[in-house]
Amino acid sequence: MKATATAPANIAFIKYWGKKDDELRLPINSSISMNLSEAHTTTTVEFKWGLKQDQVIFLGDENSSKLTRPLLFGRNYESKEALRVIKHLDRFRKIAKLNLKAEVVTRNNFPRSTGVASSASGFAALTVAAASALGLKLSEKELTIFARLGSGSACRSIPDGFVIWEAGKSSETSFAQSLYPESYWDLCDILVIVKTSAKKVSSTVGMELAKTSPFFTSRLLSLPLRIEKVRTALKKKNFRLLGETIEEECVNMHAVMMTQTPPLFYWNGATLEIIKAVREWREGMLPVYFTVDAGPNVHLICESKYQDVVLNKVKQIKDIERIIVNKPASGTHLVYKHLF
Ligand code: PMV
Repeated sequence: MKATATAPANIAFIKYWGKKDDELRLPINSSISMNLSEAHTTTTVEFKWGLKQDQVIFLGDENSSKLTRPLLFGRNYESKEALRVIKHLDRFRKIAKLNLKAEVVTRNNFPRSTGVASSASGFAALTVAAASALGLKLSEKELTIFARLGSGSACRSIPDGFVIWEAGKSSETSFAQSLYPESYWDLCDILVIVKTSAKKVSSTVGMELAKTSPFFTSRLLSLPLRIEKVRTALKKKNFRLLGETIEEECVNMHAVMMTQTPPLFYWNGATLEIIKAVREWREGMLPVYFTVDAGPNVHLICESKYQDVVLNKVKQIKDIERIIVNKPASGTHLVYKHLF
């Protein structure tokens, strides 16, 4: 009754921002993403006899040189993150009709404090590990539905490569599937982590206020065309169409965030500086585009042949904490080396 899974984070080309059902995490719109090869979470789950409560341990990131003291949470501890994990375990206990407590140990390969979203990779890994530990034979579609209940964007980290999450009308019809495998297109995501303090407003909380933006309705009206453009760009490997559309989409979502009540500003000075630099590089004929999720970090998307040129330019910008170079990645899979 023990299993371990590794899941990639993903970057949204078409963003998920707004839910039609908060409890079921049903999104208002469909979204499209790419899995990231160098930002992932590994999670071991073991259901055990004799445990009085669930134990959730978040280990420090695996690249950290210092031995980070593990954070330990259980039902008695007031940690929102741990309670979300325990709620997710409850979903699996319910369908397995088994009332055993579990020990969960999880580790990211990127630092928690840098604001790289860990909920997508975290809930994808937890879903696959928990289902396997309980011997549940779930299809990929069912796994994406479970992952979605934990964290919306997590459903897109389950299938391989380039993934679409169809909004759907009910829990059963809101699932993710692969559009193309990771080897389909040699793209590169240069994730620029800017110097910042930890994120203050989570996407779950921020998203609940999306409808208070006067631009939200207009965003919804413009989305079907942008979704179609991203699908076409992927199908034809039309990089310019992809880049222009994902930038437009990013700015559109952040305009909604900034005009919500209360307004939500995820960008900081360095974010804007990178965005401006990217636009200048393009004027100099370097084909690279930006996109930003719910935080200040910027993802630079280019074809792999331009990776080194872009990297050299990025390194000259100040206020950068770290750069992670990603390729498209496969989805969540079981691994045989447990964390405990
Ligand atoms: O699934 P969540 O709650 O982490 O929300 C993700 C929100 C965005 O990153 C802004 C967009 C997206 O589609 O990933």
